[in-house]
Amino acid sequence: MVVLLGCGPREQPFLWGSATAAYQVEGGIHSADWSEWERLGNIQNGDRADDGPRMTEHYEADLDEAVAMGHNSYRFSLEWARLQPRDGPYDGEALAYYRKVVKACRDRKLEPMVTLSHFTLPAWVHDVNPGNLSYGELPEPKGWEGGGGAPGTGPVVTQFAQFAADMADEFGDEVDLWTPLNEPLVQLTATFLNPAAAANERFPRAPGGPRPDLTPAMHALTNFIYAHARATDAIRDHDTIDADGDGKATQIGIAQHMRFMVPGSQQADYVVAAGRAEYAFNFLLLDALTKGDLDYTLDGKFTAPFEGQGFNDLRNRLDFIGVNYYSRSEVLPITFTAKEPYRDEEFSLRMISGETTSFGGPVSDLGWDQFPDGFYEVLLRTHARYALPIYVTENGIADATNTKRAAFIAHHLRAMQRARDEGADIRGYLHWSLLDNFEWVRGFSPRFGLLTVDYADPERKRTRTAGAELYSRIIADEGKVSDELLAENPLR
Ligand code: BGC
Repeated sequence: MVVLLGCGPREQPFLWGSATAAYQVEGGIHSADWSEWERLGNIQNGDRADDGPRMTEHYEADLDEAVAMGHNSYRFSLEWARLQPRDGPYDGEALAYYRKVVKACRDRKLEPMVTLSHFTLPAWVHDVNPGNLSYGELPEPKGWEGGGGAPGTGPVVTQFAQFAADMADEFGDEVDLWTPLNEPLVQLTATFLNPAAAANERFPRAPGGPRPDLTPAMHALTNFIYAHARATDAIRDHDTIDADGDGKATQIGIAQHMRFMVPGSQQADYVVAAGRAEYAFNFLLLDALTKGDLDYTLDGKFTAPFEGQGFNDLRNRLDFIGVNYYSRSEVLPITFTAKEPYRDEEFSLRMISGETTSFGGPVSDLGWDQFPDGFYEVLLRTHARYALPIYVTENGIADATNTKRAAFIAHHLRAMQRARDEGADIRGYLHWSLLDNFEWVRGFSPRFGLLTVDYADPERKRTRTAGAELYSRIIADEGKVSDELLAENPLR
């Protein structure tokens, strides 16, 4: 803790750094919903998170390297399933481990930003779909989609708020920046709306099966919204220590995946679809947590049961907005249905398609379109809508051959600079990721790291990529990206 004698709060410098998530970099986590999903054989090439970069063994050297690259911040997550593998007391070793990580950040003058659920839940909070049952045959759902009755009343909301309170008690003396949740909308679309997708899905898998039913996704969305709000209240109550001396004990945001939405054609229904997708995917959850507007029918009106505007128990629950930006999406009109309490009639919701390469420009190894202008747009639109501080909590590229990352970084930092020049109050940029990691269902083949990891080496040797070197140079130059630098590094 910084003790200030006779001087005012110190302004936080612009944060430059990178991000990771516990399940993707630690290994040794066996009580999460994702551990079960792995055991069921759902990961490409049979990869297992245990064989990853093992940051639990190497975190000090990794953080040294972050500092050597000029970083002054590091975003990571606390793994709830490691900390509380059963519904009972916390695991002492896990608490001690994260205490060391937080201290290692402070010792190195890396401002920690802490996430409390980055795509995983303990298995006692969330069971997984064994894969062979259809939606109607599944047991009573738990986790984000759990709890019948009024929206936002799932047991996960109270469980998560309690976890947040406990983590604020435990780490609040060292941590000021919190992002309780990572990308709820990605979890929703990947988990509930994409029949071919990810862990824990309860959606019938058969292609050409019944029309997508939005009900479980909407139920989960309201649980996410309320979980964030209640976790925020808990952190504000339990973390009262200003660790970095900026006059604030906590700043709480959300890591919100935001995409630039492009209509798949200029036909009117496609254009409407793109607007609705932007609202539903980028803004609806943020509207709830800033203005208190709860619109889970996604229609921009507030007339359905439980809906409303200005709810006091939801509004003002974001001190900043965390923007995770990767790419743009092509939007196609798709019809979903939903049941009570969300809406008792069929309605048309136009959602995003999957990843697409149809734009024809340079793409990542995963086929994600590289579109820095979309980053600029998303940042400016977020600023215009909320006028809150923004941290870029993720931005990065899958690039196993190390031929694309440097240009990707240069062009995205230039786009960010343009948004700042036009008034967006951006306080930091955290690249995804510090090092190569377990890319969920895709296993280890996508490589997002500034440091690339040799998985064949028992020591998991790390090597700086060209992107890491260029990012360091730009940080040393206070974020400036010249025209010459852009010209030397065309997107490819
Ligand atoms: C997630 C990360 C993931 C990254 C790249 C983000 O949506 O927060 O966990 O590794 O995308 O796929």
